[in-house]
Amino acid sequence: MKPPLTASKDSFTPAQLAEGERWYFTYCSICHTGPVNPNLMRSALATDAQAWQSVVHGGALKDNGMISFAPYLSTQQVESVRGYVLGQAKKTAAEGQK
Ligand code: HEC
Repeated sequence: MKPPLTASKDSFTPAQLAEGERWYFTYCSICHTGPVNPNLMRSALATDAQAWQSVVHGGALKDNGMISFAPYLSTQQVESVRGYVLGQAKKTAAEGQK
């Protein structure tokens, strides 16, 4: 069974969402679009800003192939990517997908 689409009450500015989209397609979609790696719209980590930072900025899962993006993205940029991913999950849920 697929994990559910994430839902969060965290809010993000339009500027964050635009920035997050840009970095998502620059750095994340290559590995996170497709059946192999976790779908970030279904990752519970996206609902927890600190846990998200520890993986994406801190490299907590680097031994499993998820490197730290600290050399490329600031913590603010990593947070914007989280906003984009949550926004996409919300949009997808609104379209009726589970
Ligand atoms: C080179 C491939 C690769 C790229 C690029 C990549 N990831 Fe990952 N990511 C992985 C792999 C592999 C895992 C699974 C790690 C594991 O199983 O513990 C993962 C796991 C994750 C997780 C944990 C998901 C969960 O629920 O367990 C998050 C969050 C994540 N990535 C975010 C990102 C973000 C944000 C970006 C872009 C900034 C990104 N990743 C770019 C390979 C990648």
